[in-house]
Amino acid sequence: RSGTLLIRGGTIQTAESALRADILVRDGIIAAIGDGLDTSGADVLDAGGLLVIPGGIDPHTHMEMPFMGEVSSDDFRTGTEAAVAGGTTMIIDFAIPEPGGSLIEAWRVWSERAKKAVCDYAFHVCVTHWSASVASEMETLVRDHGVNSFKHFMAYKGALMVDDGVLLSSVGHALSLGALCNVHAENGDAVAHLQKTLLERGITGPKGHPLSRPPSVEGEAAQRIIAIADVLGAPIYIVHVSTADATDAIGRARANGQRVFGEVLAQHLVIDDSVYDTDDFRSAAAHVMSPPFRPKSHQAKLWAGLANGTLQTTATDHCCFCAPQKANGRDDFTKIPNGTPGIEDRMSVLWHHGVRTGRLTPAEFVAVTSTNTAKIFNIHPRKGNVSVGADADLVLWDPNGTRTISAATHHQRVDYNVFEGMEVTGLARTTIAGGHVVWHENQLHTVPGSGRYVARPPFAPICFPHADTGAAG
Ligand code: URP
Ligand code: ZN
Ligand code: ZN
Ligand code: ZN
Repeated sequence: RSGTLLIRGGTIQTAESALRADILVRDGIIAAIGDGLDTSGADVLDAGGLLVIPGGIDPHTHMEMPFMGEVSSDDFRTGTEAAVAGGTTMIIDFAIPEPGGSLIEAWRVWSERAKKAVCDYAFHVCVTHWSASVASEMETLVRDHGVNSFKHFMAYKGALMVDDGVLLSSVGHALSLGALCNVHAENGDAVAHLQKTLLERGITGPKGHPLSRPPSVEGEAAQRIIAIADVLGAPIYIVHVSTADATDAIGRARANGQRVFGEVLAQHLVIDDSVYDTDDFRSAAAHVMSPPFRPKSHQAKLWAGLANGTLQTTATDHCCFCAPQKANGRDDFTKIPNGTPGIEDRMSVLWHHGVRTGRLTPAEFVAVTSTNTAKIFNIHPRKGNVSVGADADLVLWDPNGTRTISAATHHQRVDYNVFEGMEVTGLARTTIAGGHVVWHENQLHTVPGSGRYVARPPFAPICFPHADTGAAG
């Protein structure tokens, strides 16, 4: 196929507007938008009746991640193939250092693993301990490796968890480097305490999982990190917000002028805690993720948060473990590897349950599945946009196409799907990543290694008066 592609007859839907126009793609870039374009030699894609949207960006995935004694089962090839099949054309994964280990080495290890990706990718780098060398590695990652975000776990005590001292040091330092910090907000001490109490009471099955992580565990941590960010004058991004409390805390902080961002998972928007209400270990364990699924009442607040701007991004926290891996926790729910799949279905779930129900407009759908993430992580307008000069990461989106989600047909390398049996309207007919058609008429046309690392520049220094001195003015 030629390096030139004409997308003809579609409606370009961005986070801003809808426009009937053709798109000319050349050498992986959007070369022209309009009518009557010079298209000699171009391959033509008919987008009649379809929307042309910026490819989805999933800001939270875990491909082939060593975690809780296992390695997540989707690797960077299979995971990104599933992504493009669902209309997602970029992921931001997490590079996690060995205990006490080097952040740069983690970035290198993840870079090596990601070489087989079929769409573009970047990494948040995790800070799991604090020292002068961590501080200097952060600086090197920002300066030389295109990293502008660092991740912290307030949960997973004894493994990835950091305390408030580390958070203060790291978030403050990141601010001085022009980087944004992410946090998994759950009080890890409270979780460890509740896990111990539940096990002592003989509650060893997966039902113990949500009991060990009630909404207040998340609410407390969300409020704490918001307060820490306020003390530092730093922006903060809270991953997988799953409760009304945490959403309200973010809303209050934003109303007070704090730059707090919130991410919500497709899974938490539509699945509730009734999934734990079964004696079928396999099914309950498949839904063990953190934060856990919540009582249905939380979902309205999450949807409202997306619509009113309290929450800006949607993700999946795609982290697959198959039944034999989940079975490690057969006699102890605290040993069930945490995580659920989702990358292939996020876009359809958001369209079906968001746009079709009137909770989101098509423009808001594009914003929360792509554009806002590109802006927050400083890769806009190259990503998350349909404009001349932007990367040709595009999806021909069929707003009326239907499919039934199932592990029997999905591309994710995992033996279940949390959305199993869900009939959804809205799907990717064709996905274009870096100018190449990688998904068309239900077929993958991917080339392992065609994905590229996306270097993300630091943020322009903003005046945060308390950042370095803590002094007034
Ligand atoms: O259960 C989850 N979410 N597993 C992946 C690690 C994390 O906390 O994001
Ligand atoms: Zn997490
Ligand atoms: Zn995660
Ligand atoms: Zn001041």
